[in-house]
Amino acid sequence: MRYRVTIENCSETYPCSEQQTLLQGMEQLGKRGIPVGCRGGGCGVCRVQVTSGTFSKAKMSRSVISEADESKRIVLACRCTPTSDLSISVVGKMQKALSAQRLIETEDDVSVAAVG
Ligand code: FES
Repeated sequence: MRYRVTIENCSETYPCSEQQTLLQGMEQLGKRGIPVGCRGGGCGVCRVQVTSGTFSKAKMSRSVISEADESKRIVLACRCTPTSDLSISVVGKMQKALSAQRLIETEDDVSVAAVG
């Protein structure tokens, strides 16, 4: 079964099966939005907060996901699979880079629109 995953920070949406992690589903389609690091649950770069929907998750290291994080539905995208349609928000140290990238892309769009 495939579910729809929406990345709120950049309004990206992609289908993801329950056999794939959120990160695998995104990368397989060549999409961007969730920062990619080790892909193995060790670096914490892919931290996201699930803002709606249900999911299952593999074991995550307490060094990257605390109990407080878990209570706020913050997970590692490389260790989490969807069990319904999901909305997620990128959190953590890469969030600012993602926002900056989005701002640059938006400015580029404005430039192109102004020229054309
Ligand atoms: S990519 Fe490193 S923890 Fe997910």
